[in-house]
Amino acid sequence: MGFSLLPKPTPCILFLVLLSSTCFTSTDAYDPLDPNGNITIKWDVLSWTPDGYVAVVTMNNFQRYRHITSPGWSLGWTWAKREVIWSMMGGQTTEQGDCSKFKGNIPHSCKKNPTVVDLLPGTPYNQQIANCCKGGVLSSWVQDPSRAAASFQVSVGDAGNSKRTVKLPTNFTLKTPGPGYTCGKARIVRPTKFITPDKRRTTQALMTWQVVCTYSLFLAHKTPTCCLSLSSFHNNTIVPCPTCSCGCQRNSSQSGKCVNPGTPHLASFVSGFGENNLSPMVQCSNHMCPIRVHWHVKFSSEKYWHVKVMITNFNYRMKYSDWNLAIQHPNFDHRTQVSGFNYKLITPYASINDTAELWGMKSQHNDVLNLAGPNGKVQGDILFRKDKATLSFDKGWAFPRWIYFNGDMCVMPPPSAYPF
Ligand SMILES: *[C@@H]1O[C@H](CO)[C@@H](O)[C@H](O)[C@H]1NC(C)=O
Ligand SMILES: *[C@@H]1O[C@H](CO)[C@@H](O)[C@H](O)[C@H]1NC(C)=O
Ligand SMILES: *[C@@H]1O[C@H](CO)[C@@H](O)[C@H](O)[C@H]1NC(C)=O
Ligand SMILES: *[C@@H]1O[C@H](CO)[C@@H](O)[C@H](O)[C@H]1NC(C)=O
Ligand SMILES: *[C@@H]1O[C@H](CO)[C@@H](O)[C@H](O)[C@H]1NC(C)=O
Repeated sequence: MGFSLLPKPTPCILFLVLLSSTCFTSTDAYDPLDPNGNITIKWDVLSWTPDGYVAVVTMNNFQRYRHITSPGWSLGWTWAKREVIWSMMGGQTTEQGDCSKFKGNIPHSCKKNPTVVDLLPGTPYNQQIANCCKGGVLSSWVQDPSRAAASFQVSVGDAGNSKRTVKLPTNFTLKTPGPGYTCGKARIVRPTKFITPDKRRTTQALMTWQVVCTYSLFLAHKTPTCCLSLSSFHNNTIVPCPTCSCGCQRNSSQSGKCVNPGTPHLASFVSGFGENNLSPMVQCSNHMCPIRVHWHVKFSSEKYWHVKVMITNFNYRMKYSDWNLAIQHPNFDHRTQVSGFNYKLITPYASINDTAELWGMKSQHNDVLNLAGPNGKVQGDILFRKDKATLSFDKGWAFPRWIYFNGDMCVMPPPSAYPF
């Protein structure tokens, strides 16, 4: 087995090269392919009430390729004083807390640090507001900006009811439901303006504050979740994912980390079969990653060269809906053609214009990457035009520089292993 001779993967080196920061100890959220990516949470106070205010809280996902899939987001904060939530629309707190001091009307939540989740699709209309009730799913900005926002309405009591007396909530947390996001402090910003549907009148919030949350690979996962394997028509060596890219197979004395496809009681290992579960149960492999991306250079003609991209799910516990890939390759430009997947060039900086985002197509039924097994694969083709200015015949020119699956960087084989 040729690949066992490859050096062990060094994710730290990958991260170092890319981020020039310390290996795995950094919580710096900086992502070179999406430098301004964030989720912005805005509170628009729409009215004052005798004991507080009514606000619409809107989360906008301004990240190019990070989305939030089922089971969805949950947003927490800590009240500055003794605020309670009288009622909510389009969302709910997960716990009511101790409301024993209230007589008559009982609040929706009396917790000092409430956690709010989205309502499910199919919620009765009288509990909905615009942009709510998607089960906590948020699209990435590039894939579908119209589904990249979520809103709920809170009616807050025992609170200030003027610009001077209102106290901003603190200690915001955003879970998806795993870790990864860090939220800053709430800051008062210019009141949001709303344009009426007939566009003839503009109204504005009485007061607006916002919180910006950013994602960090280092906080989200202790280990990578994706790896890349390579092959090329001109050399029949397949360069597999680096061994132990996402973990190592334990031997039988410590079994339970991965499952072999032939295992008789596969379903019992994979509790909640078909439902998304955050702790992966992966099919045993040399790389132990839930996701493998394979990049196969098909052929080259005078003007074009072709690549087949195949994504394989090794996770028995997670279906990846609305998955995406972000790929950096010097030959991406506006003339590149992609079939089987949606495709968009993304330009993190004016000077970097060789990064593209690929995602599945509903019409091709490949927008969902199914559970590990015979159907756990999607594939598409990229047709690159040969460009004299950027094409170099160095070893590895045909392979991507970086590849991210759902916003998490894939472990790449070392360049010395590339077929040539
Ligand atoms: C958050 O994203 C928005 C939209 O891309 C951007 O305008 C804003 O500057 C970002 N904020 C931060 C703190 O990065
Ligand atoms: C902030 O929230 C976290 C999680 O809810 C909690 O553990 C922590 O104690 C809170 N910190 C403050 C200062 O309230
Ligand atoms: C299995 O693990 C034990 C303890 O970690 C180790 O001593 C042994 O060499 C391993 N066996 C194999 C085949 O890797
Ligand atoms: C990409 O950027 C390079 C250098 O900044 C420039 O020369 C080239 O024309 C750009 N290509 C496209 C397709 O915009
Ligand atoms: C194919 O590529 C490998 C490196 O991955 C190299 O060792 C081998 O010599 C190449 N084979 C041919 C026929 O060029």
